[in-house]
Amino acid sequence: MRLPRSVRDADVAGRTVLVRADLNVPLEDGRIADDTRIRASLPTLRLLLDHGAAEVRVCSHLGRPKTEEDRARYAIAPVAARVAELVGDERVGVLENTRFDPGETANDEGFARRLADGCDVYVNDAFGSAHRAHSSTEAVARLLPAYAGLLLLEELEHLGRLLGDVERPFVLISGGAKVADKLGVLRNLGGRADTVLIGGKMAEELRGDNPLDFEVELPSDVVAASRFAEDAESGVYAVEQIPDGWLGLDIGPETRERFAGKLADARTIFWNGPMGVFEWPRFAEGTNAVAEAVAANDRAFSVVGGADSVRALNEAGLAGHVSWVSTGGGASLELLEGKELPGVAVIPS
Ligand code: 3PG
Ligand code: MG
Repeated sequence: MRLPRSVRDADVAGRTVLVRADLNVPLEDGRIADDTRIRASLPTLRLLLDHGAAEVRVCSHLGRPKTEEDRARYAIAPVAARVAELVGDERVGVLENTRFDPGETANDEGFARRLADGCDVYVNDAFGSAHRAHSSTEAVARLLPAYAGLLLLEELEHLGRLLGDVERPFVLISGGAKVADKLGVLRNLGGRADTVLIGGKMAEELRGDNPLDFEVELPSDVVAASRFAEDAESGVYAVEQIPDGWLGLDIGPETRERFAGKLADARTIFWNGPMGVFEWPRFAEGTNAVAEAVAANDRAFSVVGGADSVRALNEAGLAGHVSWVSTGGGASLELLEGKELPGVAVIPS
């Protein structure tokens, strides 16, 4: 795999550096529910400070804001406060959510110019967003001397291992809510794995009419709820017996056991995306069972990616038991497809 040039080789002394980080952390009631991505961004910020940068402007998107109300919900303030607390250096500041500007997702050059304005060097450390060709990840890299951050490089090195000759069986397990994003990727990726386990909302998309040209293992039972609410009436049902109008919000005990069995035999594991609405404890057991099964297999090279899966792993205290915790969800999947990510491709070697 081609590696982009490293921030270690950038001349930043006395300069203003624009850093694109992926600070898109899970939020709950306006508070940061898991700060893994923020902590993972610190080594690059510290390196820039150590190398004498005069000013470090960090930018990131947060969530997928669409409405006016979302501007309050996804304001960067709590993230900026956490960065300030962890870095403790006034040279570092965090810009407002890049997605508040409509130019961002259009990869607009005008917005990229505004970001670049007054900066001398650009560092992309946002591995989790490197699959997006957006102004802050792509267009801006054409306007300033561009370098890869330490996290971005480390992610490419670890995930690259999954692209080479892996030990088999290779078990891929995927779930999560961004179904449309993941289906295309799975289509290209599934062939590399020996077993593909699918939970969450994606499983329902694939049931009946599987558009993929390989077999996937789907849940046979689910924890279903009468409506999409934390306190809804719920029960365990075989998938054919889910009451009309009810929603599957977690994988059931039979499925957990079957998936755990596949994970126990694996020699290579890649897990992305929770098995259900794990933010609600009543629907978290399936995701926790997967976290435990992945962590329990100490013979496998195991990679867990995606903010929600990582959060589940952290909450179970199991992050230390997997080979690599990736800050990328969709980005890891696209990398595993064998694609060069736009945010990486634009940085010279
Ligand atoms: C992620 O959480 O996967 C990244 O931060 C990218 O977010 P996005 O899917 O909204 O572009
Ligand atoms: Mg994600």
